[in-house]
Amino acid sequence: MTRKLFVTTALPYANAAFHVGHMMEYIQADTWVRLQRMLGHEVHFVCADDAHGAAIMIAAEKAGLTPQAFVAGIAGDRQKYLDGFHIHFDNWHSTDGPENHALARNIYLALRRNELIEVREVEQFYDPQKGMFLADRFIKGECPNCGAQDQYGDNCEVCGAVYAPTDLKNPVSALTGATPILRSSEHFFFKLSDPRCVEFLEAWTQDGRLQPEVANKVREWFKRDDDGKVSLGDWDISRDAPYFGIEIPDAPGKYFYVWLDAPVGYLASLQNLFHRLGIDMEAYLADPAVEQVHFIGKDIVTFHTLFWPAMLKFSGRKVPDHIYVHGHLTVSGAKMSKSRGTGISPLKYLELGLNPEWLRYYICAKLNARVEDLDFNPDDFVARVNSDLVGKYINIASRAAGFLHKRFAGKLSADLGVEGRVLLDGLRAHSATVCTHLDEREYGKALREVMLLADRVNGYVDRHKPWELARQPGMDAALHDVCSVCIEAFRVLTIYLKPVLPALAAQVEAFLKVPPMQWADAQRSLGHHVIGEYKHLMQRVDPKQLEALFEPPPAPAAPAPGGEALAPEIGIGDFTKVDLRIAKIVKAEAVEGSTKLLRLTLDAGEGRLRNVFSGIAMNVAPEQLTGKLTVMVANLAPRKMKFGVSEGMVLAASHADEKAQPGVFVLEPFPGAVPGLRVR
Ligand code: 2FM
Ligand code: ZN
Repeated sequence: MTRKLFVTTALPYANAAFHVGHMMEYIQADTWVRLQRMLGHEVHFVCADDAHGAAIMIAAEKAGLTPQAFVAGIAGDRQKYLDGFHIHFDNWHSTDGPENHALARNIYLALRRNELIEVREVEQFYDPQKGMFLADRFIKGECPNCGAQDQYGDNCEVCGAVYAPTDLKNPVSALTGATPILRSSEHFFFKLSDPRCVEFLEAWTQDGRLQPEVANKVREWFKRDDDGKVSLGDWDISRDAPYFGIEIPDAPGKYFYVWLDAPVGYLASLQNLFHRLGIDMEAYLADPAVEQVHFIGKDIVTFHTLFWPAMLKFSGRKVPDHIYVHGHLTVSGAKMSKSRGTGISPLKYLELGLNPEWLRYYICAKLNARVEDLDFNPDDFVARVNSDLVGKYINIASRAAGFLHKRFAGKLSADLGVEGRVLLDGLRAHSATVCTHLDEREYGKALREVMLLADRVNGYVDRHKPWELARQPGMDAALHDVCSVCIEAFRVLTIYLKPVLPALAAQVEAFLKVPPMQWADAQRSLGHHVIGEYKHLMQRVDPKQLEALFEPPPAPAAPAPGGEALAPEIGIGDFTKVDLRIAKIVKAEAVEGSTKLLRLTLDAGEGRLRNVFSGIAMNVAPEQLTGKLTVMVANLAPRKMKFGVSEGMVLAASHADEKAQPGVFVLEPFPGAVPGLRVR
């Protein structure tokens, strides 16, 4: 029976480039999808940028961009990574797309009709200087448990304690340094505590669809009181303006918390794809044969096993069939941080010319269906690629193809001899187990099995020694048969490896002159087929390449830091001519009639205020500047401009090519500086 599969990977936050952890998840899912397609199943495989939330809003502001422009910049970078590692999504969309706005609001309205939304007053930290409520990660203070300084509002990185931001001692806003105040505001809650939700989720999470360790973990989140009554906590789904997100219907100034609309993005991306393909999404999802499969990491299990299925269920929609959870990627045993990534940059990997399929192979060789972390270890990487992938598998073709081409014009012999037939039948008999391992995401097991089969083939080659047959007169037929067996065997193994190594398989198809191979093709044989000329299919890894991958990025050297040539050398005397002073931006305002200029009122501790025009309006909003300290050129001759006299200049950094890389970064001194201090 043909399966109908709707497959997703987690939607990455649009605030940073991909790191190798993203690549691992995409490689896992892409491999699975490729297998399903080789089996003749129908798959729609989609992803999107997770565009919303406070973190992205703040990052955009820091970059001097609108959130939309900021997110677009990140999104524009995605394809080169995906193409580079042969990861083929049918669609890549954004949670800020119109489909997602409409779907999230519809789902919310359905939940509200179902009486599962409740409004409650909530007390939260508020930054009075910034005029916004602070997400946990924008509050810092001393850990209430161990007293460690500079800890975030949700948990302590030193002692591991988990707490509410209001528990922190001496809290400060990470955005402005201001002391946050407690303020109350109305929040919207999804009533997961409702008995309907609890009953549904208890059944849905424990009916065998989740991995056993995931189901066990989820069970801990259901609280059981003394009478055995099970409960769940409600979920706060709203955030107050300013917020980059989707406005809640009938609630001006309130936005969906990013985690409400993020998974809706799965459907939004599918809808966007289906619009292009002319398929009706509602009808598709109403088909009971459709299986909805989400690949995710272990850190986001709550969202995918409680909130998301409940949102779908109680808005009258199809619920997920499978949540495939993987562990995290560590590099040489070191944990990777979500924001910083690891020592390996996927882009650098590609730029150094490392073969993307080495990484696919290595990651798959270490993946299984459990929620275990996977360690990238350089020595292990070199060993697996060189001795298994190249040494065992590629080697089979390189040992036989040359003779076939030179001595038999590329034509295969159909008489393979008893031993050859037994060997090939043996390889073919493993089709089902390799397939099952791959389908069950036991990629490591599948690849170990394929390598054992490759060992058998190499044993056959070693016994028959084609290089010796080639030198013996009258042994042409034997040489022909042995080499033909090798090519048939190589073809079968290539089919088994194709989900993991799609580009290599395509090269093999070209070399064998066969159409794209399906899983069932392993059972056929080529017969009297003429193959093409063998060109080397894959190099070994040079350990030096890996060393280069792990080298820290070179410090930006002269002559071109940041891509801009250094100005001619000056003496210290030249520098001291420039009088730089700390100034407070008392006021910043737009200039009527100019899109470029902001009018700044500066206090440099002189007992008078200065008026300075600064060409930063395109990148910086006036309210970002008011009240801040900066650095001013205080002895610049006053300049008469169209809008008035400018009495100085403030310092800001920007890229050499401001058009290609927009963003202006106004300088701000460390805390403690006061207006009037000289900068030297
Ligand atoms: O953890 C993350 O990176 C989230 N951006 C994942 C979202 S998955 C889905 F719900 F959108
Ligand atoms: Zn602590």
